[in-house]
This record gives sequence, C-alpha cells and structure tokens, in this order.
Amino acid sequence: CERQDGRPFRQRLLVVANRLPVSAVRRGEDSWSLEMSAGGLVTALLGVKEFEARWIGWAGVNVPDEIGQKALSKALAEKRCIPVFLDEEIVHQYYNGYCNNILWPLFHYLGLPQEDRLATTRSFQSQFAAYKKANQMFADVVNAHYEEGAVVWCHDYHLMYLPECLKKYNSKMKVGWFLHTPFPSSEIHRMLPSRSELLRSVLAADLVGFHTYDYARHFVSACTRILGLEGTPEGVEDQGKLTRVAAFPIGIDSERFIHALKLPQVQEHIKELKERFAGRKVMLGVDRLDMIKGIPQKILAFEKFLEDNPSWRDKVVLLQIAVPTRTDVPEYQKLTSQVHEIVGRINGRFGTLTAVPIHHLDRSLDFHALCALYAVTDVALVTSLRDGMNLVSYEFVACQEAKKGVLILSEFAGAAQSLGAGAILVNPWNITEVAASIGQALNMPAEEREKRHHHNFKHVTTHTAQEWAETFVSELNDTVVEAQLRTSK
Ligand code: ADP
Ligand code: G6P
Repeated sequence: CERQDGRPFRQRLLVVANRLPVSAVRRGEDSWSLEMSAGGLVTALLGVKEFEARWIGWAGVNVPDEIGQKALSKALAEKRCIPVFLDEEIVHQYYNGYCNNILWPLFHYLGLPQEDRLATTRSFQSQFAAYKKANQMFADVVNAHYEEGAVVWCHDYHLMYLPECLKKYNSKMKVGWFLHTPFPSSEIHRMLPSRSELLRSVLAADLVGFHTYDYARHFVSACTRILGLEGTPEGVEDQGKLTRVAAFPIGIDSERFIHALKLPQVQEHIKELKERFAGRKVMLGVDRLDMIKGIPQKILAFEKFLEDNPSWRDKVVLLQIAVPTRTDVPEYQKLTSQVHEIVGRINGRFGTLTAVPIHHLDRSLDFHALCALYAVTDVALVTSLRDGMNLVSYEFVACQEAKKGVLILSEFAGAAQSLGAGAILVNPWNITEVAASIGQALNMPAEEREKRHHHNFKHVTTHTAQEWAETFVSELNDTVVEAQLRTSK
C-alpha cells in the first residue's frame, strides 16, 4: 500500500462510529438508496483520504428482515461501509435514550432534560444496559472484520464501552478512541451512575484523544478523582499500564471547499444569491437543530440588534439553515417548536410586505449550495452553548478568501481556541453582548476584516482533517510500540 504521493504508507484502518457517512432509505424489499449523513464527525472523517479505511456503523434505519440486511450490506460494501444492525428497542434505549438524552446534554453542560429529570434518572440502568449491549454488537462486527496489523479507531460518546469489549476479544488489537464532544469537568461526569464503568472502559484503549487540551485535562482529572488512578503528563496510569491521553484538534478538507467555489454551478449560485440579497448584508447560521447550538439565543440576539439599531432594519438579513436531527428525542421536538415560534414573532415584528429579517430553513443544503452561501455571507454567527470543535466555523473561513467576512464565535466552542484571534468571541448566553458584536462585525473596517480573516484562513488551510487523522494514527502506532518496549524490559 502506498500514499498518493508515492510514499509507502497506507495504514489499514477500521473506523468505528455510531453513524455511517451514509444513511439508508428503503425503496423496496431488497433495494436501498443511500443519502449523506449530517454532522461534524462525518464531515471530518470524509476529509481523511490517505488510509486503507473501512467504516463500521449503524445505517440509521431499522432492518428486521434478512433480505433487507443482505441487500443493504451489499449496497454499503460499495462505499467501504459495514453495517451494524440495531433493532428499534435498542435504538430507542441506546441512541435516543442513553446517548442523546443523557450523555450528550451532560457532556455539553446542559444537565439532564428539565421536565422529565426523575423519569430519566429512573431509566438510567435499563438505558445503560442497552448502551453496553449496543457497544458489544459493534465489537462483534469489528472482531469479525479485523485483520492483524489494522488500527481500530473508535469514535465518540456512543462507543465509550467499545475499547474494553475489543480488548477482551484481542488484547493485542491497536485501539484508539476519540471524543468529538467536550469532555466535561469531573464534577459533571461524576453525576453519571455509570461514571466509573465508562472511564475504565475508555482506559482500555491504547490512545485516547480529544479536540482540546482542556477536554483531555478534564478526562484525566475524572480518572484521578473518580477512579483514584494516577495522572501523568502522558496520560493515566493503572498498575503499570499507561493509557496515553492527548489533544488532537480536528480540521476540515479545506481544499474541497476552495475548489468548489471555482465550479461554474457554484459561481452561478453565488450570482443568484447576490442578486437576491442586493443592498442587504447577509448574516448566516448553519447548524444541526440541536440545543447545544444556541439557535434561540442567536435569534434573540439578532432581535436585540434590530431593536437597538433601527437604521439597520432593512439593510440586514439573517439566514438560519438548521438541519433537523434526532427528531425522536422530545427535547429536540420542543426546540423545533421554540425556534419556529421565535422566528415567526420577530418576522411579524420587523418584517414588511416585501421582506422579512430572518429566513429560517429546517433542512439540509447540498454541498455546493452551502459553499455558495458561505461565500456570500458578510457575518457568520456560531453561538454554540458548548461545542466539541464546530466545523461550520472552519467551513465559513475556507469560503471567505474573496469577501473576508467576519466570524462571530462562541467562546464555548472548541474552535474558539484555534480561531479566537481572528473571530469576535462572545458569550452566547449574553444576548446584549452578542447583539453588540453583530454591530461591531457589520461596521468593521476592511483592513481589520482582512487581518482577522488571514489569521483564520491560515489555520484552517494548515490544520486539515488529513493531518489530524495522520497525527492520531501515528501517535497510536508509537504508543503501542512504546508499551511493548516497556513490558519487554
Ligand atoms: P456537529 O458535529 O455538532 O453537527 P459541526 O459544526 O462540527 O457540528 O459540523 C456540522 C457539519 O454538518 C458541517 O460539516 C456542516 O456543513 C454540516 N451541516 C450542518 N447543518 C447543515 C445544513 N443545514 N445543511 C447542510 N450541512 C449542514
Ligand atoms: C455530532 C456527534 C456525531 C454525530 C453528529 C450527528 O457531530 O459528535 O457523533 O454523528 O453530531 O448526530 P447524529 O445523532 O445524527 O449522528
């Protein structure tokens, strides 16, 4: 195996994530169509090219029958994907329940769902049992496809129990685990009844990675405070066994965006958008419709800006593109209604017969439409209440070489640590501050915009998804070699 540039390196990789890069839609008994999945994990991993990789995950659909499973496995094999089939009950308890109703809000410092806190507490044990069962099902599929020498790279909060399951199958398997969300302070993690089991299982991996140094530090503290283990500069040590813990900030495939902007269909789209919004500054939000993204807070800040700055009312428009996500989880359903209600109220308040201040779309845009939108934007608003990294901010910067627009970025997104010097950093909970930053961004002199953009563009084009993956995998290989040397001494 070789790299594209001829160098002899193509590590065999089994990527294991709950979500496959494509989600399946059933068209008939044995026919399926595959659609791109949304989310930062998929975006980042699709930007990783120079590996001999296969992807193991759930196709996002219940397939109870053998005919359907065979046909879907065949369709996915063409995309180098291997499905894990989860039944409806497991999906309900593991994915909707433990992953997205418990771990996700807790890891983003949002606590447990407000109204049904007691019900959630009661269902902890059964949901955690389903979580472990689902992780074991992933492990079975990995084990069936594993070949000696491959690296197994597990991703995200859905699969914290997987490293231990894999090592039980084969203690020599090279296992890495990477978290795409924040890892919270140990004070938050210790609320979980399953806190110790989760930590111990993750520690079974050879290398554990996070987006930022802070998340890595929180993880090490949780291991020392909750498990009583020893934290070292390299990671966590348990009876002579070291689990390496480090930060590996993710990136995007920036070239893909830069290249797309040159395509005639994207240029055409840019022209149409410029005509459509002529005479108005364009502000943009692109998010999954998730409570961590701070969409209601963002819209309220925009309302405050319009309230405080009447002269801007017919000169600026906010385009909020929000792809629905996890729609079976009640908290997400509530959020959708809340956002619709706020948008309707503000458009009623500030709209005219010919224009409204907010265009809100509950849907996904295709890649070219998204690039065009990023390119015509004057100010991007990323107001996550917490976010592991936030790749939308990177994508916006990659598409702004011509315009040099301004990024308003939450200080609670991992990206604040890499793009902070070029962006205007805000506390998304402070609506007055965000409203003031909108004014600052819209009035920013060209010279300052250029300087800020240059800083961010350099980062986004240098720290790519490929570099992230190569660094993680080579660190994992080194870690395993060092551990072998230590035990042979
Ligand atoms: P998260 O991983 O929480 O979804 P990120 O910002 O890291 O957040 O990644 C989101 C990814 O999903 C980006 O690649 C972005 O382009 C894509 N995405 C989000 N919302 C939409 C949308 N409405 N239409 C198309 N793509 C979207
Ligand atoms: C975030 C998570 C990913 C997840 C994505 C989309 O990026 O870190 O693991 O795939 O959101 O969410 P979904 O629940 O649709 O997979």
